Amino acid sequence: MQLSKLLGAKRVVGAGRNQEMLRKLLELGADATIQLDQPDDSLKSAFVREAGEAGFDVIIDYLWGRPMETLLAAITKPEFAEIKKETRLVQAGESAGPTISLPAAVLRSTALTILGTVGIPSREILVDAMHQILSRGARGQLRIETERVPLADIESVWQHAAHSGRRIVVIP
Ligand SMILES: NC(=O)c1ccc[n+]([C@@H]2O[C@H](COP(=O)([O-])OP(=O)(O)OC[C@H]3O[C@@H](n4cnc5c(N)ncnc54)[C@H](OP(=O)(O)O)[C@@H]3O)[C@@H](O)[C@H]2O)c1
Repeated sequence: MQLSKLLGAKRVVGAGRNQEMLRKLLELGADATIQLDQPDDSLKSAFVREAGEAGFDVIIDYLWGRPMETLLAAITKPEFAEIKKETRLVQAGESAGPTISLPAAVLRSTALTILGTVGIPSREILVDAMHQILSRGARGQLRIETERVPLADIESVWQHAAHSGRRIVVIP
């Protein structure tokens, strides 16, 4: 969220189930959030509302499964509707399920490109991205919640910290 805003994204919408996390996303600059754990019909309406007339340029997906099926249904236009621009769906994870059902109408009626995260960026792009993240972090432009952990305690904190939303900083 923070990086997309820093890099110039005009409007960013976050989606998730955890209300506390969604509230944090708004603090971090999200223009809107979508609560994912709601009935399919109202979730689809929320995606339609946030997509607006302009639609989504980029969707970064860590969930796949049912939420993605509902999102794809939401961006499917009536056939022969004017499509103004491409939507790039970047597939990064599958926390909500490893498969989806993909209606043909989605591909006929949207300018959708689906791509994965492996092998797409060149080494130069990755190095540049890491440089930007680290230098912006060092300048205090990114809010990153951390937990300082003595190396001796790493075994006991590992599982807990992995689900706390904080990054572990190991102190030798
Ligand atoms: N391609 C890459 O570079 C890359 C990098 C990192 C991770 N990944 C992949 O991305 C996925 C997420 O990784 P992570 O490290 O963020 O995992 P994580 O910390 O375990 O978080 C999983 C998230 O998925 C949500 N979730 C699970 N089931 C859901 C459902 N049915 N509907 C809506 N939300 C659901 C959870 O929401 P709640 O908090 O509400 O439970 C939680 O926020 C994994 O598949 C992982 O392998 C890929």
